[in-house]
Amino acid sequence: MSLAIRATTAIAACALAALTLGVSPAEALSLPKVEDPATLKECSTCHMVYQPQLLPQRSWDAMLSHLADHFGENAKLDDAMRIDILSYLLANAADAPDTKGKSGVLRGIAADSVPDRITSLPWWKGRHDEVNLSNLKSTKVKTASNCIGCHTTADKGEYHE
Ligand code: HEC
Ligand code: HEC
Repeated sequence: MSLAIRATTAIAACALAALTLGVSPAEALSLPKVEDPATLKECSTCHMVYQPQLLPQRSWDAMLSHLADHFGENAKLDDAMRIDILSYLLANAADAPDTKGKSGVLRGIAADSVPDRITSLPWWKGRHDEVNLSNLKSTKVKTASNCIGCHTTADKGEYHE
């Protein structure tokens, strides 16, 4: 068999495998929709509710312990509400035992670092290295944190091109 034919056969086999396994070549990410009532209510006033699967437990823990200074905003909650939301975030964090579909989110994070943003994760940066994020301020998307500004189904946990 010639090299060219062999390569074509290999590509066809890959495409077939992707189809059979239901793997999208674009690596679309599908996360469970956030259904927790407290989180939906309290974490949706300034931005989309981020899926807990997008950060590790230590990040949620740190974030929820200083909500009075949350990226320059005061997002403080009373303690009962805070603990309620934190327990949901921890149970479904990227490194929680039962979490499904985390899909490499934690790749490249040092064990002793506590990322404060999804958009600071090597995983996130890797997926956006071909996206022009430099002049978002002048567009209606405004910031990289505005997932739903580009991924119209982000609130349903569906991220694809
Ligand atoms: C008073 C407004 C406000 C509330 C309420 C609020 N946030 Fe935020 N949040 C912000 C701002 C502002 C940013 C920074 C956005 C940016 O950089 O464009 C942010 C960023 C974030 C990010 C990082 C996004 C990224 O860039 O990866 C996470 C995660 C987050 N918030 C989670 C939460 C959670 C969980 C709650 C509920 C407990 C919450 N927020 C409630 C204002 C708020
Ligand atoms: C300015 C628009 C923009 C914003 C804002 C944005 N993304 Fe993306 N994102 C893209 C584009 C475009 C791609 C496809 C990149 C490629 O394939 O080269 C992508 C790819 C992805 C992928 C991989 C899936 C795929 O089909 O390639 C994930 C997961 C993802 N983004 C999650 C997020 C999350 C979570 C946020 C918010 C914290 C976010 N994105 C914010 C534009 C954006």
